[in-house]
Amino acid sequence: MIILPGPSSQELANRLAVELRTRLIPVFFKRFPDGESYIRIEGDVKDEDVVVVQTTSPPQDERMMQLFLITSAARDQGAQKITAVVPYFGYSRQDKVFLKGEAFSAKTIVELLKTCGVTQIVTLDAHNPSTLSSFNVPVKDLSAIPLLARYFKDLGFANAVSLSMGKKGAGTAEEAAKILLGGYDYVSTRRNRYTGEVTIEEKPLEVRGKVVIFFDDIISSGGTMIKAVAYAKKQGALKVYVACVHPLLMANAKEKIIESGADEVVGTDSVPSQISVVSVASIIAEALTQGA
Ligand code: R5P
Repeated sequence: MIILPGPSSQELANRLAVELRTRLIPVFFKRFPDGESYIRIEGDVKDEDVVVVQTTSPPQDERMMQLFLITSAARDQGAQKITAVVPYFGYSRQDKVFLKGEAFSAKTIVELLKTCGVTQIVTLDAHNPSTLSSFNVPVKDLSAIPLLARYFKDLGFANAVSLSMGKKGAGTAEEAAKILLGGYDYVSTRRNRYTGEVTIEEKPLEVRGKVVIFFDDIISSGGTMIKAVAYAKKQGALKVYVACVHPLLMANAKEKIIESGADEVVGTDSVPSQISVVSVASIIAEALTQGA
């Protein structure tokens, strides 16, 4: 197995190579003056089992294009198997046609990866893994929630209440609660399909005087988390911590979440950021060792 580090995931790719005790071939990249991407694999991958590591957080379009270029270059060199490790899978939130005429973006991205020679995809806490898996490329979706829960447990937060977003997301809090053992619940969220705005619906939470930890897949604008944290505080939570797998953190999202009442915000290196304190390298390495 050979690791090819994409421009957006160089540190994670290095950690992965160390975990797997495998070879890493550098990928040279640059951007032309007109904005186009250039990549060059600096070694031979003919007949090899290659793993391209490239998260597709903002700027998504550029990172997607780099991923297409690296995987297709590996295909053209004759790589035997091409695994795309895409920790944050951009465009996956557009997982169906909500309004007539919309693009089914998640489907388009998987189809393009297939065209570029990708034989399997490994991702983390994808927005809708079953949709990603339905386009003839095997997709392995891993969960980093236990890693985040263990991070808090190791800091002495056993028995904190695990919370997540929306009824559909309750499984996320349940997964964390298996480690923290303080029970779980969800805040009821509703998103306006036209404006994207999230509102929190009234629903009692048993958090009075307790420490709570929110677990979510993504913090993008932070809008959802800001409202959820304020709601938990209003319900009497003593302290509120926030954990997410993909810290996109657009427009000072972390600072705004702290202002809304959170004590700390942590994330993983799925997306490199100022809060990426938990590494997902171990779970990706394990999945790749098991043939993903
Ligand atoms: C919603 O389904 C997700 O779990 C996140 O809560 C949401 O995508 C976060 O987006 P934002 O930070 O922009 O509110």
